[in-house]
Amino acid sequence: MATKINFNGEIHDHLNISVLDHGFLFGDSVYEVVCAVDNKPCYLDKHLARLFSSAKAISLNIPHDKEWFHEQVEVTLGAADNDESYIRIIVTRGTGEIDIDPSTCHSPNVIIIVMEIKKYPESDYEKGIHVALVSIKRNARDALNPNIKTGNYLNNVLAKMEANKLGAQDAIMVNSWGHLTEGTTSNLFFVRDGRVLTPSLDCGLLSGITRRMVIQLSEENGFHVEEGKWLGEELYGADEIFLTGTLKKVMPVSYLDGRPVGSGKPGPVTRKLMRLYRDVTKRKL
Ligand code: PDD
Repeated sequence: MATKINFNGEIHDHLNISVLDHGFLFGDSVYEVVCAVDNKPCYLDKHLARLFSSAKAISLNIPHDKEWFHEQVEVTLGAADNDESYIRIIVTRGTGEIDIDPSTCHSPNVIIIVMEIKKYPESDYEKGIHVALVSIKRNARDALNPNIKTGNYLNNVLAKMEANKLGAQDAIMVNSWGHLTEGTTSNLFFVRDGRVLTPSLDCGLLSGITRRMVIQLSEENGFHVEEGKWLGEELYGADEIFLTGTLKKVMPVSYLDGRPVGSGKPGPVTRKLMRLYRDVTKRKL
């Protein structure tokens, strides 16, 4: 079990980075989280595509191509050599003056952290987790578009703290118009009358890689999928709820605001999608 940190192409056991890096000072950075099994990263191409599109959206010029990232991820995974790894790829604006203006930052920093993954306990998948609809609103798309995966996660941090205070394991956020968006590090799905429903991207949420796969798997397996706008309170009428993400995979939700979702156990549609996602991911590795 080892942690290795790649800093601009050099591998370290520990790393100190400048307090003048605008990633640290202002959350001015983009990032991706990727999983690996036996040092093989899962869906790395899709994560790199999103990393580059997030960087473009904040006018951050990444000084390397995707091939470079493939190589660096591979050597860092090899150096850490865990059975299953958590990979965090971060590109910061770099160091500059202590000033909100990024024009003094001339060289972005690329950091790739590889460590042993901390998996969710199997009991969460068997029983489902507890979530809360929190009062903290998801960032508006015209303020800081949630579809850009930046290092500025304070919105989600505050939502998670509120959920914890309410005794829940995670938070579901609505937007300023009261429409459902997503979890703090995952996308939201719910099932009503056998239909698989998920908030549409224009509600203001990250276009999750797992979300896209689950939509595809649902359609291929005969489920009717709908992307749309639903008010927060409509979630109380759901038969099933689940969250999707690189770390959570397909995670059933059994309690919402202390009330059972459906029977209070992971429902049949969720269980089927959990299985399908697990199988398709295993085949890709
Ligand atoms: N988060 N929504 C948000 C706000 C996220 O941060 C994430 C991922 C997702 C799911 O995206 P994907 O399926 O591509 O992982 C949705 C990662 C896991 C994280 O920040 O730890």
